[in-house]
Amino acid sequence: MKVKKYRGTPYHLWNPFTPMVEFQSMMDIGPSVIHRGDGPYVYNGKGKRYINGFSCLWNVAVGHGRKELVEAAASQMQELAFASCFRQSHPRAIELAAKLIDITSGNFNRVYLGSNGSEAVETALKMARQYFKQSPDPSDKSRFKIISLKGAYHGVSYGVLSTSGLEADAEKFGPLLPGFLQIPPPYCYRCPYDKAPYPECGLACAHALEKLIIKEGAETIAAFILEPIMGSYGIIDPPDKFYTVVGEICQKHGLLFITDEVTTGFGRTGKLFASQDWEIQPDILCLGKAISSGYVPLSATLATEKIYERFQKEGQQFEHGSTASGHPVCTAVGLRNIDIIIQEKLVDNAANVGLYLRNKLEKLRENHGIIGDIRGRGLMIGLELVKDRASKTPLSSSEVFDHAVDTAISGLLAYSRGSILGLFPPLIIDRAIADEIVGILDKSLNASIPAKMARKARLAKEFVGTRLFK
Ligand SMILES: Cc1ncc(COP(=O)(O)O)c(C=O)c1O
Repeated sequence: MKVKKYRGTPYHLWNPFTPMVEFQSMMDIGPSVIHRGDGPYVYNGKGKRYINGFSCLWNVAVGHGRKELVEAAASQMQELAFASCFRQSHPRAIELAAKLIDITSGNFNRVYLGSNGSEAVETALKMARQYFKQSPDPSDKSRFKIISLKGAYHGVSYGVLSTSGLEADAEKFGPLLPGFLQIPPPYCYRCPYDKAPYPECGLACAHALEKLIIKEGAETIAAFILEPIMGSYGIIDPPDKFYTVVGEICQKHGLLFITDEVTTGFGRTGKLFASQDWEIQPDILCLGKAISSGYVPLSATLATEKIYERFQKEGQQFEHGSTASGHPVCTAVGLRNIDIIIQEKLVDNAANVGLYLRNKLEKLRENHGIIGDIRGRGLMIGLELVKDRASKTPLSSSEVFDHAVDTAISGLLAYSRGSILGLFPPLIIDRAIADEIVGILDKSLNASIPAKMARKARLAKEFVGTRLFK
């Protein structure tokens, strides 16, 4: 296959999760290649401006171009570019760990630092397994199974990938790892149990956890893991009571409760952490993405003192780590980034502007039958698009992608996956930007004949001659 060129440079880059042929046919078009970022906006090579409606990969919480973060990185590189955390430490890693303990619920006391969300969760799973293997109670030693929500996205490495339970993952990479089990997701709009809406449903989705534990034998289960709001699967946002019920079931059967806040952490849902007020606190908390606003790779896995203590006897240390665990530059930037989130009250902003945006979207829904459901919290909002509300027939992923392309033409980058159009804008956006987002969606989701023709014309103008324009 001939190597294409982007502005004269041979394109040898193999992009993640990307259909390369289609992508390369569009490299000079729209937001395919981003050259610059500023606050809530990103710009392509021709200088066209886009609202960064899903914060690049849900991570650029404080927006682009923050001089404080540039300075934190530069001065840390001057002082100490690298030192490892293997039988060593350095001040920024120590300070970041202390800060994370300080700002989380009070339930955690120990912090493992990593480079990305997959590593944070992989760490949690290995920690849970080693924890039980080292139990003084011999009956705990066979606890190795991990239960998750079907369709969960906890990352790409084999352990975390095996949590998804998706046939598509097994088809491509199978066999996935043994010992990974799933319960159906708490997807109220399309209840997997065909129950009446909450509370009449009795939270069958949460009680499914206990049924599975009993079927498998509690003495074989190490942990249950969830995302407070399932992101990739479609912004699946269960009632609060769901977290209490599954937390209680974990406690009752002696398994660890792991919460993956890689996406929801650091203000995204209008709380600093989505799980901070849960009646039953997780034993392990995974953080990533907005921990550094994407400026550098960074993640963290927080554990309780009870877990940590089990790793203290001779020969029982946590056998895990990677070169960049607790990287000085990444921890320096993470520290400064967390300060910005707190000092600039971005969590309150996410709650307030998120509510404003949500209300406007609910109004939009009244006029646009294509919006089947609106879900999420704070600035993590998903619109499930349907052919019509009565049948709830989902739009195909290519139809939703066409809408995302169309909003991009109008200057808004929206996330699309399956029948979901997602909004995860930077936490710094104000009401004016929220209005702009709603205006663009209003235009794109309008199902009237003239609006559809106008949308087709917009797509044709930009994409004619590419594989995308059919
Ligand atoms: C909830 C959740 N966990 C883990 C990950 C994996 O994070 P990373 O892509 O940084 O490895 C993601 C990424 O989207 C995520 O949304």
